[in-house]
Amino acid sequence: MSSKHKVVIITGASQGIGAALVKAYRDRNFHVVATSRSIKPSADPDILAIAGDIGDPRTADRVLHGALERFGRIDSLINNAGVFTAKPFIDFTKDDYELNMSVNVAGFFHITQRVAREMLKQGSGHIVSVTTSIVNQPIAGVPAALASLTKGGLASVTQELAIEFATSGIRVNAVSPGIIKTPMHPPETHAALSALHPVGRMGEIHDIVDAVLYLEHAAFVTGEILHVDGGQNAGRW
Ligand SMILES: NC(=O)c1ccc[n+]([C@@H]2O[C@H](COP(=O)([O-])OP(=O)(O)OC[C@H]3O[C@@H](n4cnc5c(N)ncnc54)[C@H](OP(=O)(O)O)[C@@H]3O)[C@@H](O)[C@H]2O)c1
Repeated sequence: MSSKHKVVIITGASQGIGAALVKAYRDRNFHVVATSRSIKPSADPDILAIAGDIGDPRTADRVLHGALERFGRIDSLINNAGVFTAKPFIDFTKDDYELNMSVNVAGFFHITQRVAREMLKQGSGHIVSVTTSIVNQPIAGVPAALASLTKGGLASVTQELAIEFATSGIRVNAVSPGIIKTPMHPPETHAALSALHPVGRMGEIHDIVDAVLYLEHAAFVTGEILHVDGGQNAGRW
């Protein structure tokens, strides 16, 4: 591998925000390891695609070893894979619970732990996770306790790891989106979802990509939960 290239791992990379992050990091000359269940091999030799369920520790092992074998190091990890299930708390099923815990929590834990070990050896690295502003500002009419339970944990652990790794050269940050126009939301829902933001509109994928890229280069920023949510986190509206 060429030492002039930085290497980023992006989870949930097959579509939506993750796919846009792959393109943005390649445009900035990073080597990219892109993972999700349905991801397809890339024609670009500097994108290594690894298919697997991110909640499974064996996927985390394959991503880690694939990254080191192909590119020799890991500079950044973007924990972007995630699911969102909105329903009244008492209606959640065991399957809802297990899915949210698997993708949002186990999908963070296994890959982040393995990558952090490598970053600690290198003495440098950057970890960014994607949470959601609804965990800070619950919205009446959008019951989302499983998001609070799981993504809320990501916001909290971001601050914990920022402190744990502060003197080890590893920064740990999060981006907290409002509701973003991705395949997660069919177009017919966009008008109603726009009203759930103080600014009266949904966010665009590039809003989240821009935030991740800002954090990538913000050498003095760690432990930050960067809200990119059209004002949702600011309060009531
Ligand atoms: N869109 C929003 O309004 C919004 C708001 C707040 C936060 N977020 C967060 O932003 C992140 C990206 O959202 P998005 O809207 O781009 O989502 P999306 O379009 O639904 O894409 C989700 C990505 O996660 C992957 N994924 C899902 N389950 C997985 C699993 N078990 N193992 C591995 N990969 C899995 C999917 O790929 P495969 O199907 O190929 O596995 C896909 O690439 C998520 O963490 C989401 O919670 C989104």
